[in-house]
Amino acid sequence: MRGLLIEGGERLVGEVKVSGAKNAALPLMAASLLVEGPVVLENVPHLRDVETFIQLLEGLGVKVSWRGKGVLELDASRLSGFTAPYELVKAMRASILVLGPLLARLGEAKVSLPGGCAIGARPIDLHLKGLEQMGVEIRLEHGYIHATAKRLKGTRIYLDLPTVTGTENLVMAAVQAEGETVIENAAREPEVGELAAVLRKMGAWVEGEGSGVLKVRGPSQLRPASHRIIPDRIEAGTLMVASAITQGNVLVRDVRLDHLEAVVEKLRQTGTEIKPAGDQAVRVIGPARILSADVRTHPYPGFPTDMQAQFMALMSVAQGLSVITETIFENRFLHVSELRRMGADIRIQGPSAIVQGVPYLSGAPVTATDLRASASLVLAGLAAEGDTVVTKIHHLERGYEDFAGKLSALGAKIREVEVDEAAG
Ligand code: EPU
Repeated sequence: MRGLLIEGGERLVGEVKVSGAKNAALPLMAASLLVEGPVVLENVPHLRDVETFIQLLEGLGVKVSWRGKGVLELDASRLSGFTAPYELVKAMRASILVLGPLLARLGEAKVSLPGGCAIGARPIDLHLKGLEQMGVEIRLEHGYIHATAKRLKGTRIYLDLPTVTGTENLVMAAVQAEGETVIENAAREPEVGELAAVLRKMGAWVEGEGSGVLKVRGPSQLRPASHRIIPDRIEAGTLMVASAITQGNVLVRDVRLDHLEAVVEKLRQTGTEIKPAGDQAVRVIGPARILSADVRTHPYPGFPTDMQAQFMALMSVAQGLSVITETIFENRFLHVSELRRMGADIRIQGPSAIVQGVPYLSGAPVTATDLRASASLVLAGLAAEGDTVVTKIHHLERGYEDFAGKLSALGAKIREVEVDEAAG
Protein backbone atom coordinates (compact mmCIF):
# COMPACT_ATOMS: atom_id res chain seq x y z
CA MET A 1 0.00 0.00 0.00
CA ARG A 2 1.26 3.48 -0.79
CA GLY A 3 1.61 6.13 1.90
CA LEU A 4 3.09 9.56 2.44
CA LEU A 5 5.89 9.83 4.95
CA ILE A 6 6.23 13.27 6.48
CA GLU A 7 9.09 14.21 8.76
CA GLY A 8 7.49 17.07 10.64
CA GLY A 9 8.92 20.33 11.91
CA GLU A 10 10.19 21.95 8.71
CA ARG A 11 9.28 25.57 8.07
CA LEU A 12 7.84 26.04 4.59
CA VAL A 13 9.51 28.79 2.60
CA GLY A 14 9.34 29.72 -1.07
CA GLU A 15 6.80 30.00 -3.85
CA VAL A 16 4.05 27.67 -4.96
CA LYS A 17 1.53 27.75 -7.78
CA VAL A 18 -2.08 26.73 -7.34
CA SER A 19 -3.62 24.40 -9.97
CA GLY A 20 -6.92 24.82 -11.78
CA ALA A 21 -10.09 24.18 -9.79
CA LYS A 22 -11.29 20.59 -9.66
CA ASN A 23 -14.87 21.54 -8.89
CA ALA A 24 -14.93 23.95 -11.82
CA ALA A 25 -13.27 21.50 -14.22
CA LEU A 26 -15.80 18.71 -13.64
CA PRO A 27 -18.99 20.66 -14.53
CA LEU A 28 -17.24 22.27 -17.49
CA MET A 29 -16.26 18.84 -18.76
CA ALA A 30 -19.89 17.81 -18.37
CA ALA A 31 -20.98 20.91 -20.30
CA SER A 32 -19.01 19.66 -23.30
CA LEU A 33 -21.86 17.14 -23.74
CA LEU A 34 -24.12 20.02 -24.75
CA VAL A 35 -22.33 20.89 -27.98
CA GLU A 36 -21.29 19.38 -31.25
CA GLY A 37 -17.65 20.28 -31.77
CA PRO A 38 -14.57 20.65 -29.61
CA VAL A 39 -14.64 22.35 -26.23
CA VAL A 40 -11.15 23.30 -25.09
CA LEU A 41 -10.41 23.74 -21.40
CA GLU A 42 -7.13 25.16 -20.16
CA ASN A 43 -5.62 24.91 -16.68
CA VAL A 44 -7.29 21.55 -16.08
CA PRO A 45 -5.64 19.89 -13.06
CA HIS A 46 -4.24 16.39 -13.49
CA LEU A 47 -6.26 14.55 -10.88
CA ARG A 48 -7.83 11.21 -10.29
CA ASP A 49 -11.34 12.74 -10.41
CA VAL A 50 -10.59 14.36 -13.76
CA GLU A 51 -9.37 11.00 -15.08
CA THR A 52 -12.54 9.31 -13.81
CA PHE A 53 -14.68 11.96 -15.51
CA ILE A 54 -12.78 11.46 -18.76
CA GLN A 55 -13.55 7.74 -18.53
CA LEU A 56 -17.20 8.55 -17.97
CA LEU A 57 -17.38 10.91 -20.96
CA GLU A 58 -15.51 8.48 -23.20
CA GLY A 59 -18.10 5.86 -22.29
CA LEU A 60 -20.73 8.22 -23.66
CA GLY A 61 -18.85 8.64 -26.92
CA VAL A 62 -17.00 11.90 -26.23
CA LYS A 63 -13.55 12.11 -27.84
CA VAL A 64 -11.19 13.38 -25.17
CA SER A 65 -7.55 14.29 -25.59
CA TRP A 66 -4.87 16.15 -23.69
CA ARG A 67 -3.33 18.84 -25.88
CA GLY A 68 -0.31 19.74 -23.77
CA LYS A 69 -0.11 20.35 -20.06
CA GLY A 70 -3.48 21.18 -18.59
CA VAL A 71 -5.21 21.59 -21.97
CA LEU A 72 -8.09 19.23 -22.47
CA GLU A 73 -10.11 18.95 -25.65
CA LEU A 74 -13.54 17.34 -25.49
CA ASP A 75 -15.54 16.67 -28.60
CA ALA A 76 -19.08 15.42 -28.10
CA SER A 77 -20.05 15.62 -31.78
CA ARG A 78 -21.23 12.02 -31.76
CA LEU A 79 -22.62 10.54 -28.59
CA SER A 80 -22.96 6.79 -28.36
CA GLY A 81 -24.75 6.34 -25.04
CA PHE A 82 -26.52 8.01 -22.15
CA THR A 83 -25.57 5.89 -19.15
CA ALA A 84 -23.32 6.73 -16.21
CA PRO A 85 -22.54 3.28 -14.82
CA TYR A 86 -22.46 2.25 -11.18
CA GLU A 87 -18.68 1.64 -11.07
CA LEU A 88 -17.91 5.23 -12.07
CA VAL A 89 -20.62 6.95 -10.04
CA LYS A 90 -19.53 4.92 -7.02
CA ALA A 91 -15.94 6.11 -7.54
CA MET A 92 -17.00 9.73 -7.98
CA ARG A 93 -20.32 11.31 -7.03
CA ALA A 94 -19.73 14.24 -9.35
CA SER A 95 -20.64 11.80 -12.16
CA ILE A 96 -24.20 12.97 -11.50
CA LEU A 97 -23.22 16.10 -13.46
CA VAL A 98 -23.89 14.33 -16.77
CA LEU A 99 -27.60 14.09 -15.96
CA GLY A 100 -28.59 17.67 -16.89
CA PRO A 101 -26.55 17.99 -20.09
CA LEU A 102 -27.56 14.53 -21.40
CA LEU A 103 -31.21 15.44 -20.93
CA ALA A 104 -30.63 18.72 -22.76
CA ARG A 105 -28.82 17.04 -25.63
CA LEU A 106 -30.58 13.68 -25.98
CA GLY A 107 -33.73 13.91 -23.88
CA GLU A 108 -32.63 10.82 -21.99
CA ALA A 109 -30.11 9.87 -19.32
CA LYS A 110 -29.46 6.94 -17.06
CA VAL A 111 -27.29 7.57 -14.04
CA SER A 112 -26.59 5.16 -11.23
CA LEU A 113 -27.90 6.36 -7.88
CA PRO A 114 -24.83 7.54 -5.99
CA GLY A 115 -25.66 6.00 -2.59
CA GLY A 116 -24.05 7.18 0.64
CA CYS A 117 -20.56 8.52 0.92
CA ALA A 118 -17.97 8.85 3.66
CA ILE A 119 -18.88 12.43 4.56
CA GLY A 120 -22.66 12.08 4.60
CA ALA A 121 -25.79 10.70 2.97
CA ARG A 122 -25.64 13.34 0.24
CA PRO A 123 -29.02 12.83 -1.45
CA ILE A 124 -29.77 14.17 -4.94
CA ASP A 125 -33.48 14.73 -4.43
CA LEU A 126 -33.19 18.43 -5.28
CA HIS A 127 -31.57 17.68 -8.65
CA LEU A 128 -34.44 15.34 -9.48
CA LYS A 129 -37.21 17.58 -8.17
CA GLY A 130 -35.96 20.51 -10.24
CA LEU A 131 -35.71 18.38 -13.37
CA GLU A 132 -39.23 17.06 -12.83
CA GLN A 133 -40.45 20.64 -12.66
CA MET A 134 -38.86 21.13 -16.07
CA GLY A 135 -40.93 18.26 -17.45
CA VAL A 136 -38.51 15.40 -16.97
CA GLU A 137 -39.96 12.03 -16.14
CA ILE A 138 -37.88 10.23 -13.54
CA ARG A 139 -38.04 6.54 -12.85
CA LEU A 140 -35.85 4.74 -10.35
CA GLU A 141 -35.11 1.23 -11.49
CA HIS A 142 -32.42 -1.32 -10.64
CA GLY A 143 -30.34 1.27 -8.78
CA TYR A 144 -30.45 3.70 -11.68
CA ILE A 145 -32.19 7.01 -12.28
CA HIS A 146 -33.77 6.77 -15.69
CA ALA A 147 -34.69 10.27 -16.80
CA THR A 148 -36.52 11.08 -20.01
CA ALA A 149 -37.93 14.27 -21.44
CA LYS A 150 -39.73 14.74 -24.72
CA ARG A 151 -39.44 18.44 -24.22
CA LEU A 152 -37.83 20.48 -21.46
CA LYS A 153 -39.77 23.50 -20.34
CA GLY A 154 -38.57 26.58 -18.51
CA THR A 155 -39.99 27.05 -15.03
CA ARG A 156 -39.37 28.55 -11.60
CA ILE A 157 -37.42 26.29 -9.26
CA TYR A 158 -36.77 27.01 -5.61
CA LEU A 159 -33.96 24.96 -4.12
CA ASP A 160 -34.47 24.09 -0.45
CA LEU A 161 -30.68 24.09 -0.12
CA PRO A 162 -28.27 25.86 -2.46
CA THR A 163 -26.85 22.60 -3.79
CA VAL A 164 -23.76 23.15 -5.95
CA THR A 165 -23.92 20.25 -8.40
CA GLY A 166 -27.73 20.43 -8.29
CA THR A 167 -27.63 24.04 -9.49
CA GLU A 168 -25.12 23.06 -12.18
CA ASN A 169 -27.26 20.18 -13.42
CA LEU A 170 -30.37 22.35 -13.61
CA VAL A 171 -28.60 25.18 -15.44
CA MET A 172 -27.22 22.76 -18.01
CA ALA A 173 -30.64 21.25 -18.59
CA ALA A 174 -32.24 24.69 -18.72
CA VAL A 175 -30.17 25.91 -21.69
CA GLN A 176 -32.27 23.64 -23.89
CA ALA A 177 -35.59 24.19 -22.11
CA GLU A 178 -38.21 26.27 -23.82
CA GLY A 179 -38.67 29.64 -22.19
CA GLU A 180 -37.16 31.04 -19.02
CA THR A 181 -35.96 28.96 -16.10
CA VAL A 182 -35.41 30.79 -12.82
CA ILE A 183 -33.47 28.97 -10.12
CA GLU A 184 -33.96 30.54 -6.72
CA ASN A 185 -31.64 29.90 -3.79
CA ALA A 186 -29.12 28.79 -6.40
CA ALA A 187 -25.58 28.02 -5.28
CA ARG A 188 -23.33 31.08 -5.44
CA GLU A 189 -19.99 29.26 -5.58
CA PRO A 190 -17.43 30.65 -8.07
CA GLU A 191 -17.46 27.25 -9.80
CA VAL A 192 -21.13 27.79 -10.69
CA GLY A 193 -20.11 31.19 -12.04
CA GLU A 194 -17.51 29.50 -14.22
CA LEU A 195 -20.17 27.24 -15.68
CA ALA A 196 -22.45 30.19 -16.41
CA ALA A 197 -19.57 32.02 -18.11
CA VAL A 198 -18.75 29.04 -20.31
CA LEU A 199 -22.38 28.44 -21.24
CA ARG A 200 -22.53 32.08 -22.34
CA LYS A 201 -19.40 31.57 -24.45
CA MET A 202 -21.22 28.66 -26.06
CA GLY A 203 -24.08 30.99 -26.93
CA ALA A 204 -26.53 30.31 -24.10
CA TRP A 205 -28.47 33.03 -22.29
CA VAL A 206 -27.60 32.77 -18.60
CA GLU A 207 -27.43 35.48 -15.96
CA GLY A 208 -27.36 36.06 -12.25
CA GLU A 209 -24.50 33.85 -11.10
CA GLY A 210 -23.27 34.80 -7.64
CA SER A 211 -26.61 36.44 -6.78
CA GLY A 212 -28.54 33.37 -5.63
CA VAL A 213 -31.04 33.72 -8.50
CA LEU A 214 -29.99 32.20 -11.80
CA LYS A 215 -31.93 32.84 -14.96
CA VAL A 216 -31.59 30.83 -18.14
CA ARG A 217 -33.45 31.30 -21.40
CA GLY A 218 -33.67 28.54 -23.93
CA PRO A 219 -33.50 26.75 -26.17
CA SER A 220 -30.10 27.75 -27.51
CA GLN A 221 -28.10 26.98 -30.58
CA LEU A 222 -24.80 26.15 -28.91
CA ARG A 223 -21.32 26.34 -30.41
CA PRO A 224 -17.89 25.13 -29.27
CA ALA A 225 -15.95 27.33 -26.86
CA SER A 226 -12.67 27.46 -25.04
CA HIS A 227 -12.00 28.55 -21.51
CA ARG A 228 -9.23 28.84 -18.92
CA ILE A 229 -10.32 27.44 -15.56
CA ILE A 230 -10.04 29.51 -12.36
CA PRO A 231 -7.48 28.57 -9.71
CA ASP A 232 -8.62 26.07 -7.11
CA ARG A 233 -9.65 28.08 -4.06
CA ILE A 234 -9.57 25.03 -1.78
CA GLU A 235 -6.07 24.03 -2.83
CA ALA A 236 -5.01 27.65 -2.32
CA GLY A 237 -6.58 27.69 1.15
CA THR A 238 -4.90 24.39 2.01
CA LEU A 239 -1.48 25.74 0.98
CA MET A 240 -2.12 28.88 3.02
CA VAL A 241 -2.79 26.73 6.08
CA ALA A 242 0.40 24.76 5.30
CA SER A 243 2.39 27.98 5.58
CA ALA A 244 0.50 29.08 8.70
CA ILE A 245 0.93 25.77 10.53
CA THR A 246 4.70 25.60 9.90
CA GLN A 247 5.46 29.25 10.76
CA GLY A 248 6.27 29.45 7.11
CA ASN A 249 6.73 32.27 4.65
CA VAL A 250 5.17 31.21 1.37
CA LEU A 251 4.22 33.13 -1.72
CA VAL A 252 1.12 31.43 -3.10
CA ARG A 253 0.67 32.18 -6.80
CA ASP A 254 -2.39 31.85 -9.02
CA VAL A 255 -4.84 32.54 -6.26
CA ARG A 256 -8.10 34.45 -6.45
CA LEU A 257 -8.33 36.15 -3.06
CA ASP A 258 -11.83 37.36 -3.92
CA HIS A 259 -12.88 33.68 -3.82
CA LEU A 260 -11.29 33.17 -0.40
CA GLU A 261 -12.57 36.01 1.72
CA ALA A 262 -13.99 33.90 4.56
CA VAL A 263 -10.84 31.77 4.71
CA VAL A 264 -8.51 34.79 4.67
CA GLU A 265 -10.55 36.46 7.41
CA LYS A 266 -10.30 33.37 9.63
CA LEU A 267 -6.60 32.90 8.98
CA ARG A 268 -5.98 36.53 9.93
CA GLN A 269 -7.81 35.89 13.21
CA THR A 270 -5.29 33.13 13.92
CA GLY A 271 -2.44 35.65 13.67
CA THR A 272 -1.39 34.53 10.20
CA GLU A 273 -0.19 37.41 8.03
CA ILE A 274 -1.82 37.45 4.61
CA LYS A 275 -0.41 40.03 2.26
CA PRO A 276 -1.67 40.38 -1.30
CA ALA A 277 1.40 40.45 -3.56
CA GLY A 278 0.56 41.73 -7.01
CA ASP A 279 -1.66 40.02 -9.51
CA GLN A 280 -3.19 36.81 -8.17
CA ALA A 281 -0.50 36.16 -5.57
CA VAL A 282 -0.43 36.31 -1.81
CA ARG A 283 2.29 36.04 0.83
CA VAL A 284 1.33 33.95 3.83
CA ILE A 285 3.43 34.19 7.00
CA GLY A 286 2.69 31.87 9.88
CA PRO A 287 2.79 33.27 13.42
CA ALA A 288 5.11 31.97 16.17
CA ARG A 289 2.01 30.84 18.07
CA ILE A 290 -1.29 30.30 16.32
CA LEU A 291 -4.34 31.89 17.94
CA SER A 292 -7.64 30.05 18.14
CA ALA A 293 -10.69 31.06 16.11
CA ASP A 294 -14.19 29.61 15.85
CA VAL A 295 -15.46 28.51 12.47
CA ARG A 296 -18.87 27.62 11.09
CA THR A 297 -19.15 26.22 7.59
CA HIS A 298 -21.68 27.75 5.20
CA PRO A 299 -22.44 27.75 1.51
CA TYR A 300 -20.40 30.32 -0.43
CA PRO A 301 -19.49 33.06 0.40
CA GLY A 302 -19.32 31.55 3.91
CA PHE A 303 -16.46 29.46 5.22
CA PRO A 304 -16.25 26.39 2.92
CA THR A 305 -16.90 22.93 4.26
CA ASP A 306 -14.04 21.86 1.99
CA MET A 307 -11.64 23.82 4.26
CA GLN A 308 -13.05 22.63 7.59
CA ALA A 309 -10.72 19.66 8.10
CA GLN A 310 -7.62 21.68 7.20
CA PHE A 311 -8.61 24.48 9.56
CA MET A 312 -9.12 21.92 12.31
CA ALA A 313 -5.53 20.71 11.88
CA LEU A 314 -4.43 24.32 12.39
CA MET A 315 -6.64 24.76 15.46
CA SER A 316 -5.17 21.57 16.94
CA VAL A 317 -1.95 23.47 17.61
CA ALA A 318 -3.50 26.86 18.40
CA GLN A 319 -3.34 28.70 21.71
CA GLY A 320 -6.76 28.25 23.31
CA LEU A 321 -10.07 26.69 22.48
CA SER A 322 -11.95 26.79 19.21
CA VAL A 323 -15.35 25.54 18.16
CA ILE A 324 -15.63 24.26 14.61
CA THR A 325 -19.19 23.69 13.45
CA GLU A 326 -20.01 21.77 10.28
CA THR A 327 -23.40 22.71 8.84
CA ILE A 328 -23.20 21.24 5.32
CA PHE A 329 -22.40 17.55 5.75
CA GLU A 330 -23.48 15.49 8.74
CA ASN A 331 -20.49 13.19 8.96
CA ARG A 332 -17.56 15.32 7.94
CA PHE A 333 -15.47 14.76 11.07
CA LEU A 334 -13.72 11.56 10.03
CA HIS A 335 -10.35 13.27 10.43
CA VAL A 336 -10.99 13.88 14.14
CA SER A 337 -10.07 10.41 15.36
CA GLU A 338 -6.91 10.44 13.25
CA LEU A 339 -5.88 13.91 14.49
CA ARG A 340 -6.44 12.62 18.03
CA ARG A 341 -4.00 9.81 17.35
CA MET A 342 -1.46 12.56 16.71
CA GLY A 343 -2.16 14.09 20.11
CA ALA A 344 -4.87 16.59 19.19
CA ASP A 345 -7.42 17.35 21.91
CA ILE A 346 -10.76 17.34 20.11
CA ARG A 347 -14.25 16.46 21.33
CA ILE A 348 -17.27 16.17 19.10
CA GLN A 349 -20.56 17.58 20.33
CA GLY A 350 -23.30 17.21 17.75
CA PRO A 351 -22.32 19.20 14.66
CA SER A 352 -19.40 20.87 16.47
CA ALA A 353 -15.85 19.89 17.23
CA ILE A 354 -14.39 21.48 20.34
CA VAL A 355 -10.68 21.81 19.77
CA GLN A 356 -8.38 22.58 22.68
CA GLY A 357 -5.07 23.55 21.13
CA VAL A 358 -2.01 21.59 22.28
CA PRO A 359 1.60 22.85 22.18
CA TYR A 360 2.61 20.20 19.67
CA LEU A 361 1.34 17.19 17.76
CA SER A 362 3.30 13.98 17.57
CA GLY A 363 3.80 12.09 14.34
CA ALA A 364 1.86 8.83 13.96
CA PRO A 365 0.60 6.43 11.32
CA VAL A 366 -2.81 7.72 10.21
CA THR A 367 -5.38 6.79 7.59
CA ALA A 368 -7.04 9.12 5.13
CA THR A 369 -10.81 8.70 4.85
CA ASP A 370 -11.77 11.31 2.27
CA LEU A 371 -10.22 14.03 0.18
CA ARG A 372 -10.13 16.99 2.58
CA ALA A 373 -9.52 14.77 5.62
CA SER A 374 -6.37 13.50 3.94
CA ALA A 375 -5.16 17.07 3.37
CA SER A 376 -5.71 17.86 7.05
CA LEU A 377 -3.61 14.86 8.09
CA VAL A 378 -0.77 15.95 5.82
CA LEU A 379 -0.94 19.45 7.33
CA ALA A 380 -0.88 18.01 10.84
CA GLY A 381 2.08 15.87 9.82
CA LEU A 382 3.99 18.95 8.65
CA ALA A 383 3.62 20.53 12.09
CA ALA A 384 4.09 17.38 14.17
CA GLU A 385 7.20 16.22 15.96
CA GLY A 386 8.60 13.09 14.34
CA ASP A 387 7.31 10.98 11.48
CA THR A 388 3.75 10.73 10.21
CA VAL A 389 2.69 8.21 7.63
CA VAL A 390 -0.61 8.91 5.89
CA THR A 391 -2.09 5.90 4.13
CA LYS A 392 -4.96 5.62 1.60
CA ILE A 393 -3.52 8.59 -0.25
CA HIS A 394 -5.66 7.87 -3.30
CA HIS A 395 -8.17 10.12 -1.53
CA LEU A 396 -5.67 12.99 -1.65
CA GLU A 397 -4.92 12.36 -5.31
CA ARG A 398 -8.57 12.84 -6.20
CA GLY A 399 -8.32 16.55 -5.61
CA TYR A 400 -4.73 17.77 -5.13
CA GLU A 401 -2.36 17.92 -8.05
CA ASP A 402 1.15 16.85 -7.00
CA PHE A 403 0.54 17.93 -3.42
CA ALA A 404 3.62 16.20 -2.02
CA GLY A 405 5.77 17.64 -4.82
CA LYS A 406 4.56 21.17 -4.15
CA LEU A 407 5.14 20.88 -0.39
CA SER A 408 8.52 19.32 -0.94
CA ALA A 409 9.58 22.25 -3.16
CA LEU A 410 8.74 24.50 -0.20
CA GLY A 411 11.12 22.55 2.04
CA ALA A 412 8.79 19.96 3.55
CA LYS A 413 10.27 16.52 4.14
CA ILE A 414 7.59 14.47 2.47
CA ARG A 415 7.82 11.48 0.20
CA GLU A 416 5.85 8.53 -1.01
CA VAL A 417 6.64 5.21 0.66
CA GLU A 418 5.42 1.65 0.50
CA VAL A 419 3.65 0.67 3.69
CA ASP A 420 3.03 -2.84 4.88
CA GLU A 421 -0.73 -3.40 4.46
CA ALA A 422 -0.98 -4.99 7.90
CA ALA A 423 0.74 -2.02 9.51
CA GLY A 424 -1.58 0.46 7.76
N1 EPU B 1 -28.34 18.08 -0.62
C1 EPU B 1 -29.61 17.55 -0.51
N2 EPU B 1 -30.27 17.20 -1.65
C2 EPU B 1 -29.73 17.36 -2.88
C3 EPU B 1 -28.44 17.90 -2.99
C4 EPU B 1 -27.78 18.25 -1.84
O1 EPU B 1 -30.14 17.39 0.59
O2 EPU B 1 -30.39 17.02 -3.87
C5 EPU B 1 -27.61 18.46 0.59
C6 EPU B 1 -26.32 17.64 0.77
O3 EPU B 1 -26.59 16.41 1.41
C7 EPU B 1 -25.49 18.58 1.61
C8 EPU B 1 -25.88 19.96 1.08
O4 EPU B 1 -27.13 19.77 0.43
O5 EPU B 1 -25.87 18.48 2.95
C9 EPU B 1 -24.91 20.58 0.09
O6 EPU B 1 -24.52 19.64 -0.88
P1 EPU B 1 -24.19 20.02 -2.38
O7 EPU B 1 -25.17 19.38 -3.26
O8 EPU B 1 -23.97 21.50 -2.49
O9 EPU B 1 -22.80 19.28 -2.58
P2 EPU B 1 -22.28 18.67 -3.94
O10 EPU B 1 -22.78 19.49 -5.05
O11 EPU B 1 -22.54 17.21 -3.94
C10 EPU B 1 -20.10 20.12 -4.08
C11 EPU B 1 -18.64 19.84 -4.18
C12 EPU B 1 -18.16 19.30 -2.84
C13 EPU B 1 -18.45 20.34 -1.75
C14 EPU B 1 -19.95 20.68 -1.74
C15 EPU B 1 -20.31 21.78 -0.78
C16 EPU B 1 -18.33 19.33 -6.52
C17 EPU B 1 -18.03 18.33 -7.56
N3 EPU B 1 -18.39 18.89 -5.25
O12 EPU B 1 -20.73 18.86 -3.79
O13 EPU B 1 -16.76 19.11 -2.94
O14 EPU B 1 -18.08 19.87 -0.50
O15 EPU B 1 -20.36 21.08 -3.07
O16 EPU B 1 -19.61 22.94 -1.06
O17 EPU B 1 -18.50 20.50 -6.82
C18 EPU B 1 -14.66 18.22 -2.36
O18 EPU B 1 -14.17 18.82 -3.32
O19 EPU B 1 -13.96 17.68 -1.46
C19 EPU B 1 -16.10 18.13 -2.22
C20 EPU B 1 -16.70 17.21 -1.47
